[in-house]
Amino acid sequence: MQVRSDVLSAAELDQMRASCRLAAATLEMVGPLLRAGMTTLDIDRLVHDFIVGHAAYPSPLNYRGFPKSVCTSINDVVCHGIPDATVLKDGDIVNVDVTTYLPAKNGFHGDTSATFFIGEPSAMAKHVVEVARQALEVGMAVVKPDARIGDIGHAIQTFVESKGCSVVRDYTGHGIGRVFHAEPSVPHFGRPGTGPRIRKGHIFTIEPMVNIGGYATEEMADGWTVRTRDRSLSAQFEHTILVTRTGCEVLTRRSQPLVNSEDRPWVQLGPLSSPTSAVRSEDGAAADR
Ligand code: MF3
Ligand code: CO
Ligand code: CO
Repeated sequence: MQVRSDVLSAAELDQMRASCRLAAATLEMVGPLLRAGMTTLDIDRLVHDFIVGHAAYPSPLNYRGFPKSVCTSINDVVCHGIPDATVLKDGDIVNVDVTTYLPAKNGFHGDTSATFFIGEPSAMAKHVVEVARQALEVGMAVVKPDARIGDIGHAIQTFVESKGCSVVRDYTGHGIGRVFHAEPSVPHFGRPGTGPRIRKGHIFTIEPMVNIGGYATEEMADGWTVRTRDRSLSAQFEHTILVTRTGCEVLTRRSQPLVNSEDRPWVQLGPLSSPTSAVRSEDGAAADR
């Protein structure tokens, strides 16, 4: 097989898998602990200690000056919320975006996020969270060799708008590996047949941010926190994926539905990142090797 510089060796791939597994495990650890009355700083502490306790480094910490180890984005915060003394309250939705760097020296980044419910959500909150969760599934479903990056965004945008929501334009998925944010940029909107061609072995994130209102965003004065311009609710899910011969392997997949997020009764499990299909996806990847 031809060796290309943008494709990891088998040994590197195993390290990348390990980092992504740790990122997934971090979300699985934190989900059941979320409750009204805790602060986003409490989430930061839990995530920081868990990642460091597994011989890894939390990629956000000091990344371009980001001051904490995880992003926590509540309600109308689209992404990049900074953990602080804000108290989670009943009815809030909060996205927890975890990125691990394993091993802590010369490692690989694994990036995954999910939106959680604090107590009982409004109908709007349920809707935007479920549309975001399914939008990620819809995007992953079109990934295969020879497809184009624009096909992903087109599938996501079509789905999200059919559900009466909008998809954020200002932030995208990204290539990932030894570098946190690498090429290509993976927009969650766009036209089919456009953008770079997808090849086997490529690794990138898909992380649609879905708003109940308009897609416009606004960065706050702290230089990080991004809100919807109309202050409507926003939700996001993110996976890091590896392109395989027939589709993709969800490197940050979970072994169980996430507690306080995708375990709620109105949620339908998606086709790719669910526990059963994760096994299929692993079989597919094994057949490729
Ligand atoms: N994890 C985010 C992403 O999905 C990036 C966070 S950068 C930070 O790309 F500095 F805000 F942590
Ligand atoms: Co990302
Ligand atoms: Co992320």
